Formats: sequence, C-alpha cells, structure tokens
Amino acid sequence: MSAPFQTAFPIMLAPMAGVTDMPFRALCREMGCDMAYTEMVSASGLYNKNAKTKLLLETHPQGEPCGAQLFGGDPAVMAYAAAWIENECAGRFTLIDINMGCPAHKITRGGEGGALMKNPALAGAIVGRVADAVKLPVTVKIRAGWDKGGVNAVSFARVMQESGAAAVCVHGRTAVQQYCGKADWGVIGEVKAALTIPVWGNGDIFTAKDALMMRARTGIDGVLVARGALGNPFLFREIKAARDGKSVAPPAIRERVHVALRHAAMMQDYKGARGMIEMRKHIAWYMRGCKGCAILRGKLQAVRAYGELEELLLGYLADSAR
Ligand SMILES: Cc1cc2nc3c(=O)[nH]c(=O)nc-3n(C[C@H](O)[C@H](O)[C@H](O)COP(=O)(O)O)c2cc1C
Repeated sequence: MSAPFQTAFPIMLAPMAGVTDMPFRALCREMGCDMAYTEMVSASGLYNKNAKTKLLLETHPQGEPCGAQLFGGDPAVMAYAAAWIENECAGRFTLIDINMGCPAHKITRGGEGGALMKNPALAGAIVGRVADAVKLPVTVKIRAGWDKGGVNAVSFARVMQESGAAAVCVHGRTAVQQYCGKADWGVIGEVKAALTIPVWGNGDIFTAKDALMMRARTGIDGVLVARGALGNPFLFREIKAARDGKSVAPPAIRERVHVALRHAAMMQDYKGARGMIEMRKHIAWYMRGCKGCAILRGKLQAVRAYGELEELLLGYLADSAR
C-alpha cells in the first residue's frame, strides 16, 4: 500500500483549488507533509479531454506522494476519469480521492461535491464504480452532512466503506456551513468509532497542538490540513515533530521570506507570468501578522516578475533588521 497507508498517523496537505499546485505541494513535502492532494479535478473535464483540466494532474518530475482528487456526479464518468488517471499518469498517484464536500454553488447545483451528502445511494454507486475501475486505493472526502438538520456523516461513511472506499476523510462542518463556525470534531470521532477502514480528520488545525488534540479526542488515523498551511508550510514540520514527541520553534521572519521567495521562483518556472500573479496571495499569507504587512500587501499588487518580488521582500527584511 502507499504513503498514507504505510505511515503511522500521516500528516497530509488537504486539497485546495487554486492553492495545492505542484510548487506548493513540493514545499509542504520538504517540510514533512506525508502526502498532498491535487486541486479538485473535474471528471467531466477529463472525459471531454479538456487540456486545462489535465494540467491540474501534473506532478513533480522526481515523483511525489500525491492523491488525485476528482469531483463529479455521474458514476460512469467518474469511473472513466479514475481509470484515465491510473493509465495515463501511470505510477504518479498514490490514491484517487472523491470530493463529496465542496460547497460551491456551481458544483452543488449539479448534485456534485457536497450535494452528494444528500444522496448516499448515488455516492455509494460512484465509489463502487470507481473502485471497480482502478487498482489504486479510492478514498472519499466528506462533510459532517449537508446542513444542520442533515448531519449524516456516520451512516454516509458506512456506505462509503461498504462501497469499497479504502479510507474516509471527515471535515467536521456541514456543506451549508462552508468554512464558517467551528469544525465539529465530535462527529469525526463518531465516524472513526463506526468504521474499520482508516478515518482521517480535517477542520481547524492551525497548530501542532491542534493536530495532537484532534487525534486524542477522536482517535483518527491521520490528519488533513488546509487553511493552516496557507503561507505556512512550516506547520508540517511542527506537526511532524509533535507527532514524534519533539518540538520545533516557528520560523523566524528571515526563513519565512526565503521560503516565500523559493516558492515564487518555483511558480515562475512552472507557470510563468501567471504564476507570479497567483503568488501575490501566497506572499500576503506568508507575511500575515508581520510588522507593516498591510503596506507590503499594497505594494504586492504591482509585482509582475520574480526580480521585483525579490527586491520588495529583501528590502522588507533589511528594513526589519534595522
Ligand atoms: C481555498 C480553498 C480551496 C479548497 N478547495 C478544495 C478542493 O478542491 N477540494 C476539497 O475537497 N476541499 C477543498 N477545500 C476544503 C479543504 O480541503 C478543507 O476541507 C477545509 O478548508 C477545512 O480544513 P481547514 O480547517 O484545515 O481549512 C478548500 C478550502 C480552501 C480554503
């Protein structure tokens, strides 16, 4: 079996559209992340041979432990897409994950993503067809339920297990909650207690202590970290150290800046000018909470090339050392 199934308590980078591209995954891996997910990939985009969709499935030339995340609502199209990934990207992915949590209206209005929480029979059929179509492990990322009155994670996760899922990740919020309020770790613990396959927890892990606390409270087999890693790939080494009974100090500003610049250089190499535009949001996350970050954020809007960013950030570092 592959990376997250071999590691005791894997620490993973959750799928994030617009964020978990190859450069960011590489940095998180360097910091100790055991496996990262792609951004969510449209199964119908693969079915229709959309070139932009295929780009989302590029992986590091030297290989990386990576889960390919698919979204869609048609079992046959999902099975086609999973088999396409297994055949065309041979050996590059660790698992196929199915998105059953995305709350975006453009996804849920077609019955896909989080809307599948309202339709366990269809969700089970999707998992069954996909698991039959590939040899790779098939995992499912679910929510606590569709809405407050429809919290069904335990029965839903049982259906996923019976349909052939190799693991389930539970984000302890309903789809209607989107990212608001606190994640309910109680429901994650209930799913863990009900299943025999690995259950991974997700929601509100912003520090190493949070990860250990979620593990202690729920008994989960691994964690997925999303927003806590934005501008903070260092969180993976902090959680990894804590998992191994050690501790590491958070990064000093100098390291933050140098890692941010390395991230930017990778984005420029990988995506060209578009990468530098995308990098603006990452830099704002890296510098969050630093002295003068509001002014820096303003200046970032004018940055178009790596050299300009380097000048801005190294200038910031020199000023902050004075
Ligand atoms: C910018 C952003 C993009 C996301 N994209 C996806 C996605 O493509 N697929 C998915 O399953 N979840 C996606 N999520 C949800 C996260 O994977 C995660 O479940 C959620 O943010 C809760 O974890 P956290 O509290 O650690 O942020 C996204 C979240 C954010 C903030």
